[in-house]
Amino acid sequence: MSTSTANPAATHKLYIETVGCQMNMLDSEMVVADLRRQGYELADNVTDADTILFNTCSVREQAENKTYSALGRLRQAKKDNPEKIIGVMGCMAQKDQKLIFKRAPYVDIVVGPGQLQQIPGLIDKVRAEGGKHTAVSLGRTDGKLMDIKRSHETFDPLRDPTMRPTPFQAFLRIQIGCDKFCTYCIVPMTRGPEQGRHPQQIYDEAVILADQGAKEIILLGQTVNSYRHVDKDKTETRLADLLHKLHDINGIERLKFVTSYPKDMGYDLLTTIRDLKKCSPYLHVPLQSGSDAVLKRMKRGYTVGEYRDMMARINETLGDKAAVSSDFIVGFCGETDAEFQETVDLVEECRFKNSFIFKYSERPGTKAHDQLPDDVPFEVKRRRNNELLQIQNRISEEDNQKFLGRTVEVLVEGPSKRHDAAVNEIKDGKAEDLNRVVVGDPGAAGKSDLVQLDTTQQDAARLQKQQFEGKPLQLTGRTHCDRIVVFDGSPRLIGQMLPIGVYEVCGLTLLGTAVSESKADLISLV
Ligand code: 5AD
Ligand code: SF4
Repeated sequence: MSTSTANPAATHKLYIETVGCQMNMLDSEMVVADLRRQGYELADNVTDADTILFNTCSVREQAENKTYSALGRLRQAKKDNPEKIIGVMGCMAQKDQKLIFKRAPYVDIVVGPGQLQQIPGLIDKVRAEGGKHTAVSLGRTDGKLMDIKRSHETFDPLRDPTMRPTPFQAFLRIQIGCDKFCTYCIVPMTRGPEQGRHPQQIYDEAVILADQGAKEIILLGQTVNSYRHVDKDKTETRLADLLHKLHDINGIERLKFVTSYPKDMGYDLLTTIRDLKKCSPYLHVPLQSGSDAVLKRMKRGYTVGEYRDMMARINETLGDKAAVSSDFIVGFCGETDAEFQETVDLVEECRFKNSFIFKYSERPGTKAHDQLPDDVPFEVKRRRNNELLQIQNRISEEDNQKFLGRTVEVLVEGPSKRHDAAVNEIKDGKAEDLNRVVVGDPGAAGKSDLVQLDTTQQDAARLQKQQFEGKPLQLTGRTHCDRIVVFDGSPRLIGQMLPIGVYEVCGLTLLGTAVSESKADLISLV
């Protein structure tokens, strides 16, 4: 994250790099908040920092390799400045633990995602006594369920709004961990057992976020629509109940939630989305494969038929208002050409708004790693990845045509910096890991996001300068259904909900002009 605020009282400078999903972005927000309270300020680069943290992802090997390379580049810096503190946090810290010290012996602290509140204390300890320190949560078989759960709990309310990609959008974790144990996935091991946070805690946090200016709240969970909390008095709260509660909070204009699990997309939730106007009819429901045999090997817990039933429920309840997106893994253990073709056929049938497509990456610690051979050659994975991506992009582009000439309401996020570069990468098939990015490097972030924008102070300054120089300013916003809209406008529109008339479709992006409330008459607002 490249935000730096001059604080003469600051005693330490922190550089933090975040890869991975929205959960990681939120975790970084919390750690930065914690350290700011101890007098830290953020540095733009490792050279200026005396404390360097990597918030890591373990979902695919590539993400881990990137972190190990980044650590490798610090070897000399640590030799030259042994007092620099280097910490590894997040899923890779939980998964690799001792291995990190082995591969990068100059790392000082290793902290799993359930122990992040220990970071300030551990840094102080290193400064005072030196040595290597580890704080990780219990493994899935390391004790009583209650103790394991407690060791994975997070400390969400103590966060720092300035770490958000934009001040108007905020993540809110409602669920920790996962119990689905898909055979390819490391998350149940790194994030621990599934637990729904207390609804009152979630509500209170949402009120704070709204007071801080958040207009859009994105509820986070690995299987967010399976959210369930049972109180001491046996009162049960599900996602639909939670949405009803949050809907009443003044200031919040949009509620989204990611990521959903197909089997738990019931009518209660869908009718709630239909009836509550703040709820986005955007549903990210990973299918992973269109072949029953592959889904079985993945232990996804549903069949293609059941996924189709879910799509039918969505269409029946929300009609064409709904936008469904998906994730796919290609080249999973034993995937044949015929099985891959079933995925292609289902993508054609379901016509997702967009899909994130990944080449299978074997993860030690998972069932697939232990029991199934990773036998699809890399070249085949790559070919299938590109093929599916091209099909999906064609579908997205075709379906976007329906917006031509229509007016959509967007929440204006900020300048459309690097937007075109990101879209071109998708087209070239290079962006497999587009949703695994470094925070502060606004390529893209999050499963629901194709392009991540940042409105850091530097951006604001750049914008004002651009305005001053009279250059047209390209802004980006997002529709209720998470479609990206690019249009020209003034920076004072950032953070507003605005009607935009769409006049062109460019790949996954809608190009438009700010219009008056009346759809018929296009009046520029800038
Ligand atoms: N290899 C490749 N992709 C994976 N995902 C999860 N585990 C793996 C893996 N081992 C993908 C799934 C999931 C997304 C977050 O990452 O598609 O939905
Ligand atoms: Fe991983 Fe499956 Fe849980 Fe998603 S549902 S986090 S893919 S184990």
